[in-house]
Amino acid sequence: MDSNIKCIGVLTSGGDAPGMNAAIRAVTRGAIFNGIRVFGIYRGYKGLITNEIEEFKTNSVSNIIQQGGTILKTARCDEFKTKEGRAIAYENMQKHGIEALVVIGGDGSLTGAAIFSSEYNIPIVGLPATIDNDLNATDVTIGYDTALNTIMEAMDKIRDTATSHERLFFIEVMGRNCGYLALNSAIASGAEAAIIPEISMEKDQLAELIEQGFRKSKSSSMVLVAESPVTGGAYNLAERVKKQYPQYDVRVTILGHLQRGGTPSAQDRILASRMGVASIQALIENQRSVMIGIRENEITYVPFRRAIKKERAISEELLEVLRISSI
Ligand code: F6P
Repeated sequence: MDSNIKCIGVLTSGGDAPGMNAAIRAVTRGAIFNGIRVFGIYRGYKGLITNEIEEFKTNSVSNIIQQGGTILKTARCDEFKTKEGRAIAYENMQKHGIEALVVIGGDGSLTGAAIFSSEYNIPIVGLPATIDNDLNATDVTIGYDTALNTIMEAMDKIRDTATSHERLFFIEVMGRNCGYLALNSAIASGAEAAIIPEISMEKDQLAELIEQGFRKSKSSSMVLVAESPVTGGAYNLAERVKKQYPQYDVRVTILGHLQRGGTPSAQDRILASRMGVASIQALIENQRSVMIGIRENEITYVPFRRAIKKERAISEELLEVLRISSI
């Protein structure tokens, strides 16, 4: 049976990701198309607590599909982690007549959504938006493709210097304990290796790389490093190489937040639009506590508890592609 929801709220939370605006647009228009009122909630869960909430019409989301960041702003909100904070958030929802939420964000945001949804019995649907691509049971997350392209463009530029000076570059990328950004951008940019947290727990990837003679046939190299206490980060690895192999001219580039900005790729805009429309359909179908995922190009509903489980395995096939193509 359909849910008969008449009014929803939409918010973006956690780190911004390119495509969040396309998602806000699709959620807003998907809701209005189905006769549902929509409120934009500013600054994520923080705005739910501080009551920064405003009704959206179709033109509230005009001309934003091509913009990076999020027009709703975003925040990481400690107050929402407390029972008291969530009680105020619930009161504010009631004041506006908001019966359900669409939460656009990464694992922290969906964890908050899962708690809030079960505590107050509120239908909440999540859209996976993070450049990290670290959520379970979805092939990709909104923002990941754009970030990959941004890294690839930066790597193409770094390659010029690496080649001209015959240097060894360590390039650190984001991912928060997930190696997908590092691994796929290594493949896309023709790098020699990716040092990622999923592997370095078990073996010393740097020593292995050097022992295999990764510089035998090349005078310059680029190694992607996923930010993580497990990999130790690019600076640590570079220091080790400088000490153990002083013959190498080593440099480090930390790409940092430039990976999060920029105009979203076509893939991210389409993904965000599909997921945004699907989130409204899910609410109409009485779904709650699910994340919209994408598997083999089909939309899926993934229970929050499964989506946020930290069990996403790295692809052996991708590792093999990088190993083979970088000889
Ligand atoms: O989750 C997205 C992400 O960009 C991670 O890759 C990174 O570790 C973190 O956010 C950085 O957060 P902040 O923007 O708060 O420094």
